[in-house]
Amino acid sequence: MNLEALLSARLAPALAEVAHAAVDPAVRRSQHADFQSGAVLPLARGLGRSPRELAEAVTARADLAGVAHAEVSGPGFVNLTVADELIAAALTDVAGDARLGVPQTKQPRTVVLDYSAPNIAKELTVGHLRSTVIGDALARTLEWLGHDVIRANHVGDWGTAFGMLIEHLLDEGATGVSRAADLTAFYQAARAKFDADEDFRDRARLRVVRLQSGDEETLGLWRSLVAESRRYLLSAYERLGVTLTEADFAGESGYNDQLASVVDELDAKGLLVASDGALCVFPEGFTGRDGGPLPLIVRKSDGGFGYAATDLAALRHRTRVLGATRLLYVVGAPQRTHFAMVFAVAAAAGWLPEGVSAEHVPFGSILGTDGRMFRTRSGDSVKLAALLDEAVTRASALAPDPAVAAAVGVGAIKYADLAGDRRSDYVFDWDRMLALTGNTGPYLQYAYARIRSILDRAGAFRPAVRITHPAERALALELLSFEPVVESVAATLEPHRLAGYLYGLASLYSTFYEQCPVLKAEDGVRESRLSLCLLTGRTLRRGLDLLGIATPAHL
Ligand code: ARG
Repeated sequence: MNLEALLSARLAPALAEVAHAAVDPAVRRSQHADFQSGAVLPLARGLGRSPRELAEAVTARADLAGVAHAEVSGPGFVNLTVADELIAAALTDVAGDARLGVPQTKQPRTVVLDYSAPNIAKELTVGHLRSTVIGDALARTLEWLGHDVIRANHVGDWGTAFGMLIEHLLDEGATGVSRAADLTAFYQAARAKFDADEDFRDRARLRVVRLQSGDEETLGLWRSLVAESRRYLLSAYERLGVTLTEADFAGESGYNDQLASVVDELDAKGLLVASDGALCVFPEGFTGRDGGPLPLIVRKSDGGFGYAATDLAALRHRTRVLGATRLLYVVGAPQRTHFAMVFAVAAAAGWLPEGVSAEHVPFGSILGTDGRMFRTRSGDSVKLAALLDEAVTRASALAPDPAVAAAVGVGAIKYADLAGDRRSDYVFDWDRMLALTGNTGPYLQYAYARIRSILDRAGAFRPAVRITHPAERALALELLSFEPVVESVAATLEPHRLAGYLYGLASLYSTFYEQCPVLKAEDGVRESRLSLCLLTGRTLRRGLDLLGIATPAHL
């Protein structure tokens, strides 16, 4: 049971009477009391009454069973302090529920979640790490709430860079394919040749033409490159503990034969404009630097299709064929305009009908401790494998067991990525992310492991909560907030809300554990305190799992 929902249900009839209309009581946790509703504040003007007077009327009329104390405060807030018995009863219910009191949604949606999406023919960036980690947390959370999540790994597996890569592959011979596993190094070597060698450049250009005209030998080489990099990506996902699988690859190449019909459909709707030999759509409200209308280029002047055309085809496929009603794109903030334009064009084309939403879920950059883009000391882009190796090495100072060190090291990186508002840039700082205190992955993993060891020592008991101490009460109330927090992550697509909640929960737990003896408490109290330990442990484990972070039992 969720106390916000319960108290809202209590206030709603009184509020409706006073306001002569249904109003959401919007009960929230508060600093000033356990809960607060500010619902009357926006109503006062329309009703010609003072907000305090309205709040008094609502408080007087409402059925407030289970509320120990209700008062009107400030400009017209209703402050509610709940009875200890209500908290205890609600939490005892949660203890008996495998889903910790979080129900599955009654309105499941088919969500296509576009995330990770590295470019096979370009360098892998730490931006793809962010997309992968944030996207996976959202996939896990939406799925757990009962939505049908279709993961779409829109890898860049098509385009002109493959001319250069295939020629490089041929030069390298049989060993080339296995070397393609390290995408960054392979790309850099091909790129260096392309820049230095005129003859190689010509070969690369010819190769692109052969690839696009469907030459079988060229396609075979392309397939071997793509297959090798898929294997590499899957092993990286596995190491990262990310849920993306082989089945989730939905690369750009797969939309190739739908591009012509995208053009036809846009043309039939009268949306296409020829501009300097290219075919463009000028969606309303987008202007370039010069103040003129901004085009979304659907077909380039050389007849080729680009990134935007592929995204239009993918969007149409996702709504029409996959039946998605919510489209999410976890992609860096610099692509904001691209997605806004793609969505505007798709809406004009009728591919985003009523009830179907498309949302760009942007995120900021990872910075180095010098405040600039995160790079290696020599100025190269940071390789994911090297990053994970270093994380595990550093974590082995905290946890000698190799499997546990891997969970702590990888967890620290992922948690640091998820703990801040995704829109902000953040500084990649080893010492901070691996610290055992503060809002870090290791701190939460330790909190969980400590709870496990207490429970192991306790033996069997029957979970039931009763409140005998303020620290128990504070912890219990926080445990009851898990549901609204998970719901808010699904609504706002902001995993840091869950991270912040788990950190707050672990902090309240440690206060509780300092102030309230558990194993040595008297009968009855002992069971209740063990129940609080158990529920905190279960909530931490579930919450961290929704973020994609492992919880080893022992550290
Ligand atoms: N491959 C792209 C990049 O690295 C990201 C793709 C994001 N998804 C999409 N549907 N455009 O920039």
